[in-house]
Amino acid sequence: VTAEKAGYDHFMLKEIYEQPKAYRDTMLGRINTESLTVSLPELKLTKEKIAAIRKVHIVACGTAYHAGLVGKTVIETSARIPVEVEVASEYRYRSPLITPETLVIVVSQSGETADTLAALREAKKHGAHVLAITNVVGSSVAREADSVMLTLAGPEIAVASTKAYSSQLIAFFLLGVYLAETLSTQEQAWTKSIVAAMLSLPEQVESILENTDALRTYAESIAEHEHLFFIGRGVDYAVAQEGSLKLKEISYIHSEAYAAGELKHGTLALIEDGIPVIALATQNALLEKTVSNIKEVKARGGEIFGISDVNEVKALGKAVDEVFGIPATNALLTPALSVVPLQIISYYASLARGNDVDKPRNLAKSVTVE
Ligand code: G6P
Repeated sequence: VTAEKAGYDHFMLKEIYEQPKAYRDTMLGRINTESLTVSLPELKLTKEKIAAIRKVHIVACGTAYHAGLVGKTVIETSARIPVEVEVASEYRYRSPLITPETLVIVVSQSGETADTLAALREAKKHGAHVLAITNVVGSSVAREADSVMLTLAGPEIAVASTKAYSSQLIAFFLLGVYLAETLSTQEQAWTKSIVAAMLSLPEQVESILENTDALRTYAESIAEHEHLFFIGRGVDYAVAQEGSLKLKEISYIHSEAYAAGELKHGTLALIEDGIPVIALATQNALLEKTVSNIKEVKARGGEIFGISDVNEVKALGKAVDEVFGIPATNALLTPALSVVPLQIISYYASLARGNDVDKPRNLAKSVTVE
């Protein structure tokens, strides 16, 4: 068993460390490193069909749904097409407005989640083109979708998803660039700069993983707490939701993710002396606003752990109790980096609580019941 874990104590940790490879493999063959362009021959849609798309629905469960939340911002920014994201178990029961001009993207690591599969069938029934983003070749979702974009994360064993989620982000980045190139919704300089930044992500993740001591120490300090909050704006909010789910799944610490600006509309009432708050502040354009939300939390006694890019660490450092810097990248791509410290924090918090990290109570890797 230790051999399968390649020397790591748990599959989850091994899978966290496999992310640079997962990113490289998912980009390989899809990015032309000279022209900095993307090709997606697996997308069975002509240019005309793509131009006819009026809206996108992203449907998924759990962690894959959180990847979809980032996907929405990526597609709306790059292709200027409106995107809705919904959990599969809700989508299918509310007669969603699906037309042949809707692109429905289902996201599923396993490709076997019952609700996601049912949503896919519903979408096909209404004539939509269904694109599956999945990690498993030949899975039910892969077999039934019209187009299949494989994430090449390799088998994921730990129940808590890590490398599958982050590879789904890479798939959305590739898709966003491809749609922008096809529809000319963005300047070439823009798409090329995204692609160039994508190519640096694997090394940047490696640099985060090189020294995780501060994250481990922080994780151990929150292990005795019963409640924790995550805040962020924009894609930071999407990543906050994934970080919160990860923490709940394996540490059993109750946590909530809040859009930083929404905190004062209720949740701020729960902030009292010593409550841990993880604040994501990677969006330079929103930094000032997020810092003012952080101050609201600080004034009520919250203990804040900030995550920001290296250039902004100083600005954030004054407002928070502790700060962790991630390498600088394009604002749209930060989730592929900022999720990594959150995975590490969850892992060590679970370990500190003596939990079964790879097999959390009550949860299954793949949910084939509705
Ligand atoms: C289960 C797993 C989650 C996963 C979700 C969706 O709840 O425990 O980690 O995100 O199913 O799985 P899928 O295979 O469709 O991505």
